Amino acid sequence: MKTEKHEAIILSSSQEKDANAQFVQHFKFAPLPDDEILANLGLFLTSKNLARILFFYEIYKQILTTHGVIIEFGVRWGQTLSLMSALRGIFEPFNRHRKIIGFDTFRGFKGICEQDGEKCKCTDGSFSVADDYEKYLDTILSLQEQLNPISHLKKYELVKGDAVRTIPEYFNDNPETIISLVIFDFDIYKPTKVALESVKSHLCKGSILVFDELCDDIFPGETIALREVLGLNNVRIKRFPMTSRVSYIEIE
Ligand SMILES: C[S@@+](CC[C@H](N)C(=O)[O-])C[C@H]1O[C@@H](n2cnc3c(N)ncnc32)[C@H](O)[C@@H]1O
Repeated sequence: MKTEKHEAIILSSSQEKDANAQFVQHFKFAPLPDDEILANLGLFLTSKNLARILFFYEIYKQILTTHGVIIEFGVRWGQTLSLMSALRGIFEPFNRHRKIIGFDTFRGFKGICEQDGEKCKCTDGSFSVADDYEKYLDTILSLQEQLNPISHLKKYELVKGDAVRTIPEYFNDNPETIISLVIFDFDIYKPTKVALESVKSHLCKGSILVFDELCDDIFPGETIALREVLGLNNVRIKRFPMTSRVSYIEIE
C-alpha cells in the first residue's frame, strides 16, 4: 500500500520524477530470474539511494569500537534497520550486544504541532505504512539474521506505538541500555524531543546521533527539539559530502 500524503515534499524536478518512475517500472518487470534478483539489486541503485547507504556505511564504521545498541526513531518501511543488520553481519557478526531497536507507530506521524510549521503539509497519519507492516518487517529482519552467525539469538526489536509513551517505557524496562548509535528520523518535534530527552543518560563518549532533518525548513521541529535539549552551541553537527540531508553528532 502506498501513501500519497508526502507528495508535497518531494523536491525532485519533473524530469527526475519521470526517470524514477521509469526505473520503478523496469524494476517491477525486470526479466531476471527470481534467484538472481537480490544479487543484482545494484542495477536499480540510483546515486541518491546509494549515497544514503554509503552514509550509513561510514557511520557504522565509526561505532565499531563503541559499546552499545543501535536505535532508530522513525522506522517506516524499515530499510535503515535492515541495512544496519546487514552491516552488523559484515563487520561484527558475533557482537550480540549490538542490538538493533526501532520505534514507530507503524501508522504514520503522531503528534504534529505548531513547532512543525506549515511547509511540510503533513498531518497525523502521514507516512503511514500498510496494515500489520511491522509483521512483514519482523520477517525481513529475522531473515537478515538467519543469513549471519548466532542467528539463534534475536538481536532486534520493533517497538510499536506513539514514541512519546513507548520510549520512556522502553528505557524504564531496559535501564542497562547503552547507545552507540541513535538515528533520529521522526521528522517532527514532539516525539523527537521526548527521544532526545530519553536517550541523554544512555549515551557515552563516542556515541553517534544521526539526524535526517536538521536545518530543514520543511521539517523545522527536529532542529528545534535538538536546540532545546542539547543546545546547538554544545555540539559539532557534521556531515559527509555524499548526502545533503543527513547529519551527525559525536558525543565528545
Ligand atoms: C520519514 S519516516 C522514517 C523513515 C525511515 N527512517 C527510513 O530510513 O526510511 C518517519 C517515521 O516516523 C514515525 N513517527 C512519527 N511520529 C511518531 C510518533 N509520535 N511515534 C512513533 N513514530 C512516529 C512515522 O510513523 C514514520 O514512519
